[in-house]
Amino acid sequence: MVTPLISPSILSADFACLGEEIRAIDAAGADWIHVDVMDGHFVPNITIGPGVIKALRSHSAKPFDVHLMIAPVDPFLEAFAEAGADIITVHPEAGPHAHRTVQAIKALGKQAGISLNPATPAKALDYLIDDIDLVLVMSVNPGFGGQSFIASQLRKIEAVRKMIDKSGRDIRLEVDGGVDAAIARSCVAAGADVLVAGTAAFRGGPSAYAANIAGLKANFEYRKANEHRKGSA
Ligand code: DX5
Ligand code: ZN
Repeated sequence: MVTPLISPSILSADFACLGEEIRAIDAAGADWIHVDVMDGHFVPNITIGPGVIKALRSHSAKPFDVHLMIAPVDPFLEAFAEAGADIITVHPEAGPHAHRTVQAIKALGKQAGISLNPATPAKALDYLIDDIDLVLVMSVNPGFGGQSFIASQLRKIEAVRKMIDKSGRDIRLEVDGGVDAAIARSCVAAGADVLVAGTAAFRGGPSAYAANIAGLKANFEYRKANEHRKGSA
């Protein structure tokens, strides 16, 4: 199994001091910074917009992994690109023309992700896979942190992994929602290579962040070393 990248969701950070929180989670070993943008319309919660992302940008040099849960999404892509998003992930249900949305993200010079809700089949990727850089499998219904992982999504991760491998393209497979150290293992075994963690990354406050992230990666480092000793990749 590969060691996954960890993308902590700042939805679980202390919103009263987001800049400090991002510096702390970066120093603790985060690979990416996951930013959940919600509009109270596409999902039943409201978070932050491009102005806040712009203000946070200087607090980390790590990629900003921006997950847009807003509809319509197209009118706001440019603002998120300008604010400093590196990866912009959208839901196909967030507009009438998902392929056009992906084209618009690429035209802005950003990496494009497609997010699949728990009830959205892997098949939704059929005619998008050749143009995207990331697939985000939602393992909870979008809107809130701290929900329980929906086990059926492991089958979807497996299906998406097959699609990605068949495409031969360099596409990241990210899982978002209810991921802790034990579930991380199942997700990676199913084919994921990026894990979003809100609750599991930010629990316990800044002094716990390094241990939280190390815990999310621990199984894989061990297995990787073990497999290496046996001579397999
Ligand atoms: C949910 C968000 C997730 C969520 C993850 O809509 O997309 O990123 O905050 O948080 P946990 O890890 O607590 O489920
Ligand atoms: Zn998210």
